[in-house]
Amino acid sequence: MQEKIIILDFGSQTTQLIGRRVRELNTYCEILPYNKFPHDDPSVIGVILSGSPFSVYDDKAFKTDIAALRGKLPILGICYGAQLMAWEMGGNVESAPSREYGRAQLTEVEESNPLLHSVAPGSQVWMSHGDTITSLPESLRPIASTDRVPVAAYQAVDGEKLWGVQFHPEVYHSECGMQILRNFVVDICGSRCDWSAASFIESTVNDLRRQLGDDKVVLGLSGGVDSSVAAVLLNKAIGSNLTCIFVDHGMLRKNEFTNVMNDYECLGLNVIGVDASAKFFKELAGVTDPERKRKIIGKGFIDVFDEEAHKVKDVKWLAQGTIYPDCIESLSITGTTIKSHHNVGGLPEKMNLKLCEPLRLLFKDEVRAVGRELGIPEHLISRHPFPGPGLAVRILGDITPEKVAVLQEADDIFIQGLRDWDLYNKVWQAGAILLPVQSVGVMGDERTYERAVALRAVTSTDAMTADWAHLPYEFMAKVSNDIINKVRGVNRVCYDISSKPPATIEWE
Ligand code: XMP
Repeated sequence: MQEKIIILDFGSQTTQLIGRRVRELNTYCEILPYNKFPHDDPSVIGVILSGSPFSVYDDKAFKTDIAALRGKLPILGICYGAQLMAWEMGGNVESAPSREYGRAQLTEVEESNPLLHSVAPGSQVWMSHGDTITSLPESLRPIASTDRVPVAAYQAVDGEKLWGVQFHPEVYHSECGMQILRNFVVDICGSRCDWSAASFIESTVNDLRRQLGDDKVVLGLSGGVDSSVAAVLLNKAIGSNLTCIFVDHGMLRKNEFTNVMNDYECLGLNVIGVDASAKFFKELAGVTDPERKRKIIGKGFIDVFDEEAHKVKDVKWLAQGTIYPDCIESLSITGTTIKSHHNVGGLPEKMNLKLCEPLRLLFKDEVRAVGRELGIPEHLISRHPFPGPGLAVRILGDITPEKVAVLQEADDIFIQGLRDWDLYNKVWQAGAILLPVQSVGVMGDERTYERAVALRAVTSTDAMTADWAHLPYEFMAKVSNDIINKVRGVNRVCYDISSKPPATIEWE
């Protein structure tokens, strides 16, 4: 049985981060809404209560029955989770005069406490709270403070395995955070630390064989890491009963269709490549509104995929590379749980097939680790994200095959340059954008009136926020020169130095 830690989500922005940290300890965990604890699951070895945007006094604050967990499993409350337990057990939680946000140093650390083993006094922790615990009930006692917070951490008296920390151990700036989580997960909950890419592959392949039997499965490949890893995993489980479909909508990168098809064939996948570019160019002709462009491509993709998929006799399942952050039920501040999300919006509803999502429990870095373990080549594993509608979202204005060809050349020079200069893996994502402007230039003795290309490269960890990548000037000079000299129709190159927010990564 795969043992697990349950993280109850009270709506904090860092809940997913707690999950990632626990997984880094080679321990499987699941993030569940605050009121969905699986009381009859014997594989749970411990519980973590997350932070929350609420105060325990808010009418709408998320509450859970902590008494039902006490004494049965080790519990660690983080920030709001700690406040909620202290308050429900009779302590005082008060609004601090000013919100405490940022670094603090732990003092009066009870170093013999199992939660604080190897945490030295003076260790830096990250605080982010408006309320603070001002007094503890008799059943709890403090085990660390900071100069502003008397109860930075507490434990239940009489050795009950219940702890609370006012700070955020999951955040990188908490120097001792990983140690505290390790103390909880490994020493206190007794994790065997046997969650690894290899163990995931072994158990998932067995589960898939059981789930799918001799059924036929189709999967849409995009060239991206998630769908590639899902395909190779399924191929290992059910071999030729898996049919992969890779649709070329005509707006992929230069040579991408051929290269990726070759990669897939080398991986032994049964893959059908469909060149549907003529259909897409026809439907997109003259369309300038970005939303309309996306809709046309989305619908066109579903139609082509559906048609190809139903050529597979007796197909019963649609497999997708949905990953954990896509499907964690997130809590809305109004108190209801929101839908889960699908990679290819609209496909499952249209196709009337059962859904198979073998990566739905993995974080992105785990998907990559699984991919490496499965022997997928590094250039497929470490590829930058690329939007589903492809270069269509990077051509402002209407789309023509000629514009796509110009942009493919410029993009290829930029991306190849990043690889040659060993910069590709230092940025999250990069690409070129074709602008709907022409400007005057001079080439040889002639005046030109040609297009401008913007280059975009960003650093990010999750695409929610991003900063422009500070690429070396020498590199930019070389790329700009190469583009202007080699790409006919382009006489100007700009670099986008906007961060997200307020800008976005893509231009459309
Ligand atoms: P933005 O532009 O919103 O992009 O900052 C965030 C991330 O999402 C990708 N992106 C898309 N991916 N279909 C996709 O599959 C789309 O329509 C789309 N728009 C943006 C973008 O490349 C970045 O990684």
